[in-house]
Amino acid sequence: MTASLLSVENLSVHFATRRGTAQVLDAVNLSLAPGETVGLVGESGSGKTVLSVALLGLMAPNARVASGRITLAGADLLALSERRRARLRGRDVSMVFQNYRGALNPIRTVGDQLADVLRRHAGLRGQPLRDRVIELLQHVRIPDPARRAQAYPFELSGGMCQRVMIALAVSCRPKLLIADEPVTGLDVTTQAAVMDLILGLARDHGTAVLFITHDLALAAERCARIAVMHAGHVVEVGPASALFTCPRHPYTAKLLAATPASQHSIAAMPVIAGNLPDLTRPLTPCRFAGRCERRSPACDAAPLVLAPVAPSHSLACHHPLPS
Ligand SMILES: Nc1ncnc2c1ncn2[C@@H]1O[C@H](COP(=O)(O)OP(=O)(O)OP(=O)(O)O)[C@@H](O)[C@H]1O
Ligand code: SF4
Ligand SMILES: [Mg+2]
Repeated sequence: MTASLLSVENLSVHFATRRGTAQVLDAVNLSLAPGETVGLVGESGSGKTVLSVALLGLMAPNARVASGRITLAGADLLALSERRRARLRGRDVSMVFQNYRGALNPIRTVGDQLADVLRRHAGLRGQPLRDRVIELLQHVRIPDPARRAQAYPFELSGGMCQRVMIALAVSCRPKLLIADEPVTGLDVTTQAAVMDLILGLARDHGTAVLFITHDLALAAERCARIAVMHAGHVVEVGPASALFTCPRHPYTAKLLAATPASQHSIAAMPVIAGNLPDLTRPLTPCRFAGRCERRSPACDAAPLVLAPVAPSHSLACHHPLPS
């Protein structure tokens, strides 16, 4: 078995809110091998961004890790000092953020922002630094890169800002790239080009990718493995082809049925009957129970664990769909 690049074990993250403690992630397990591309899918509010931000060691001030461990490139992330975690970010792990405009500094040129990262993590200075900035903008296929390096984010289109984010994220050849909804909000042609770009750069550099999306079909098309999240639980993990053709968890099946018919209309969000549970209230062991037609008393009796059902395929359900 390949040694993990990333291993998330039993991770629970709680938030202090005005209405009480929200148990946003509960006993999450996930692993990625070096160079592997894994899709993390789930509807809005399922905890995908909270998990990915935890992987960067960047959490909101009201967040608390209630349990668990994150091992990244051999380092026990949650035990590191903030200074050492900051060194890991950019060098070992980086992220293309969901809100790319918000993630770029509006009052610095894109060239200066790239130079900051390269100075800090790659130790580049002077002409080699300037050359590398242009080279990176070229890699992400920004036309006229020398001129665009002088531009501020507001002077660039959404697609171009997203390319700058990608350039920032890959600038130090991280071992793991987290791409959080990297194409949502872009037009269809740009979406495909941006996906090709991320996965192409990752392949060239042997970078593992955690690709976060609402769209199970898109994840299945682009990733080797998929993890499905619902209300802070990972409910099914398996080979993309298995989850796409024969989902076993009732939530995965609903997510798939809600996927837009056209695999390219990926801005659309899945709509699944029922709501996510209120995470500040007492919760049933299966957080999907309130929306599940297969629920039985057994579902409410015992805690659920993600258990293997086939090689590399696990799920957390007492009454899975037939294989
Ligand atoms: N700082 C915070 N304080 C309290 N609750 C939070 C905080 N940040 C996130 N949450 C809650 O955590 C849950 C998961 O949020 P998250 O942003 O991870 O969802 P998501 O799966 O990324 O959704 P989307 O697909 O819309 O991006 C939501 O219920 C959200 O309200
Ligand atoms: S454990 Fe029970 S309630 Fe939960 S998804 Fe499976 S069948 Fe449905
Ligand atoms: Mg999100």
